[in-house]
Amino acid sequence: MQEADLFAPSDSPVETTGILDVTARYALNVVAPVAPTPGNCARCPLAKTAKTVCMAPILVPGDGPLLLVVGESPGREEDMRGQPFCGPSGQYIRPQIAKWWRGRVAYTNADRCAAGDAITDKTVAACRGYLRHEIEELKPARIVAVGVWAASALVGDGSPAPLSSRGAYAHVLGIPAFFVLHPAAARRNRHYRTAFEHDLRWALTCASPPVEVPTWRAFSESGEAVAYQEGPRRRRRTVHIHRSPPEKPL
Ligand code: URA
Repeated sequence: MQEADLFAPSDSPVETTGILDVTARYALNVVAPVAPTPGNCARCPLAKTAKTVCMAPILVPGDGPLLLVVGESPGREEDMRGQPFCGPSGQYIRPQIAKWWRGRVAYTNADRCAAGDAITDKTVAACRGYLRHEIEELKPARIVAVGVWAASALVGDGSPAPLSSRGAYAHVLGIPAFFVLHPAAARRNRHYRTAFEHDLRWALTCASPPVEVPTWRAFSESGEAVAYQEGPRRRRRTVHIHRSPPEKPL
């Protein structure tokens, strides 16, 4: 299959929050790469409770361009078996990815140790250098970040509110990156499932970079994009994505 076919526009374009302006101030652009140290890491307290410390990514072999899927942190099963996305979320997302992506796929996480509810800006920041290292080594053609903490790892700006962005995309280290809900949310709630499956298909099949930025109600009058945060409606927070963050020299 040609790369052009792979990136052919989907017939179900998602409404997007628009392209994120990933500038010098954003996470992966400012962090130095750090070579992962499987089995041995003291960059945050999670290693003390994890069974698998500093989990390595897993690469599904095959041919063609590489897709990197970035999750939030290993779940219980992943921690036990030492592989990202081998538990229920993986069983749900992997066949869907296989349906829409014809190339190779690598799975990794924002946090390399199982975090559960203890995932924070600090734990994500502690692992960010690993993610940059991996992206530089693997050179994926496209990145899909699932869940708010995965988005935060890639383009978070260090603010306490994790960035969540249904249908947003950015270029991270020059690579198109797409942000979708976490599969665990989709598995639990059928309303999220429809959105997740729709957005995932879009993220895997739309032209790269998307040719069109549809206007969406999420653009406030002041021009800021607002984003979804997964979770029950009453707990949903709106976080602001600055479309043109202040420039800071590297
Ligand atoms: N959820 C994630 O975000 N990552 C995994 O590896 C498993 C579940």
